[in-house]
Amino acid sequence: MPSLRLVTGAALGLVAGLAIPHARKAMMQAPSALAGDWLDALVAEHRLVQAAFEKLLATGEDQAHQREMLLSKIAYALTKHGVEEENVVYPALSETSHAAEARHLTEDHAAIKTFIYDLRRMPAGDPSWLVRAREFSDHVDTHIREEEEEIFPVFRDALSVEENAKLTRMLNWEGFKVA
Ligand SMILES: [Fe+2]
Ligand SMILES: [Fe+2]
Repeated sequence: MPSLRLVTGAALGLVAGLAIPHARKAMMQAPSALAGDWLDALVAEHRLVQAAFEKLLATGEDQAHQREMLLSKIAYALTKHGVEEENVVYPALSETSHAAEARHLTEDHAAIKTFIYDLRRMPAGDPSWLVRAREFSDHVDTHIREEEEEIFPVFRDALSVEENAKLTRMLNWEGFKVA
């Protein structure tokens, strides 16, 4: 039979093994969770992505490694952001008169995945890489403008305080899961 010390040690190890990733996830989701409601959280995430794009578009052909690092950062941020929107906000939109908008936004997200896939395969020091990165950035900017200026505020205003609070909780949980 294993000694009590071994069993206790294993149990503590298990707890630490779970606690550390959870602490890291909570830290990664904190800026969004602290931003305010679900729309404030998404807007804060949009700004972070746009700031990373600005840095990426300012890189030169001799900064291939920097380009790859920034692309990874953008891909990670957009993946988490995409899960939050696709698992919570877009389904909620689909249940209202905004179903067509939800479909359009989902198609935009699919195009984002293609941009990331293309850029990962292209040599990052190549002049065509930055051309494609600029198209990617423009696509994301247009998508963000539609969400922030046209679709999301109208949707938030149409929901009750309780419904908005529930969306905020659900969105932060989705973000935490994949952070
Ligand atoms: Fe989106
Ligand atoms: Fe978004």
